[in-house]
Amino acid sequence: MDKFLIRGGQSLKGTIEISGAKNSALPCLAATLLSAETVTLHNVPYVKDLITQRRLLEDLGATVLTPELRTHKVTAKNIGTFEAPYELVKTMRASVLALGPLLARFGRAKVSLPGGCAIGTRPIDLHLKAFEQLGATVSLESGDVVARAPKGRLTGAEISFEKVTVTGTENVMMASALAKGKTVIHNAACEPEIEDLAELINKMGGRIKGAGTPTIEIEGVEALSGAEHTIIPDRIETGTFIVAAAITGGELEIRKCEPKHLQAVIEKLRDSGVEIEELNQSSLLVKCGAKGLTAKDITTEPHPHFPTDMQAQYMALMTQAEGISVVKETIFENRFMHASELVRMSAKIDFSGNTARVHGKTRLTGARVQASDLRASASLVLAALCASGETVIDRVYHIDRGYENIVRKLGAVGAKIERISESPTTAAATE
Ligand code: EPZ
Repeated sequence: MDKFLIRGGQSLKGTIEISGAKNSALPCLAATLLSAETVTLHNVPYVKDLITQRRLLEDLGATVLTPELRTHKVTAKNIGTFEAPYELVKTMRASVLALGPLLARFGRAKVSLPGGCAIGTRPIDLHLKAFEQLGATVSLESGDVVARAPKGRLTGAEISFEKVTVTGTENVMMASALAKGKTVIHNAACEPEIEDLAELINKMGGRIKGAGTPTIEIEGVEALSGAEHTIIPDRIETGTFIVAAAITGGELEIRKCEPKHLQAVIEKLRDSGVEIEELNQSSLLVKCGAKGLTAKDITTEPHPHFPTDMQAQYMALMTQAEGISVVKETIFENRFMHASELVRMSAKIDFSGNTARVHGKTRLTGARVQASDLRASASLVLAALCASGETVIDRVYHIDRGYENIVRKLGAVGAKIERISESPTTAAATE
């Protein structure tokens, strides 16, 4: 298994470009199943999860051409099976996003029920309940979710989510795009990735209004056509590199990003002393303020509030802030795995339940640590960049799932980071 070796203490300087958003490209690729015509997606990040999603589409019978590495031309004309198998779903929960489009277009879908993951149990009960409200029958058979539209087509309905769910909102938006009549989703997720997916479906001839707000209205249509769409920049990758500049006392220009998609993060970081200048609509200049960092509390909540996917990176930064910061995680019940690894690097963090207290400022020291999930691994990379000595991070396959070329991007702005590959075949060995 690959590892990262990082020698800390370098102030990062230079320019970094942001890739397309993993959490938008995944549902947008799933949405290509809604049409028999070709859908072209640009700015698809070259990360493991998107390679898995592509494989899922091809296993279902779609053709996926990539004239360029980050452009996918998908034609889901000859779909031969309606099943997302266990082998794929166990590696990537987002495979459940195939449920909505398959059910909508073919009236049936079979997807292995995703198990829990490192950050929580993560049930999909709200997705399934909503499909039933759209007229589907849903059953669990030997670990697979089997959904059918008895009338061959779903019927629009009023749906109120008890809890805000991102992929739940996306799945229902896709399912109801081809349903008979109108669907209204209440308490919908408002993440920018939801708006991006709605924009794609509307380009395909869909009729979605209100995406990005808690109430989304979808007028079902008979069929959807082909389209061309560019995926939005990755706001979590942007936030991660803002923290990289601040935690190393460096100066980074971050390009091809979308500052308005992470306002809550930018405001909180400015509050804590990070200087963040919006150079234009798609570039930020970031440096650590002359007075250093001050501890500030956060509570993770659905968009537009502070995102849970930035919690781990923020915790790493707070180890370098004066004072005690309280980090409250309200979305996932087990998202502090990185805290004990940071403590191995001499951070002072105590936590119980969904609340952690970070005692700053502490001098981090290099150590051997282990990544447990995508964002936890990002926080360990950030901590290692400012720690004294060497850090070895195990299980970096987690980070490959959602960060494109992170070793190359950080290396280009002065980080002393290298990937140690134990198997020469792994593609990333070239980095
Ligand atoms: C999406 O996951 C993202 N993944 C996650 O990013 C992100 O952390 C999460 O939204 C929250 O922002 C993708 O977009 C592919 P949820 P999702 O449904 O949709 C509970 C990353 O690091 N819930 O919004 O799976 C659930 O357990 C990943 O890139 C139910 O109880 O998250 C959680 O506590 C990690 N029943 C809460 O709701 C359901 O049917 C929010 O989950 C659905 C969700």
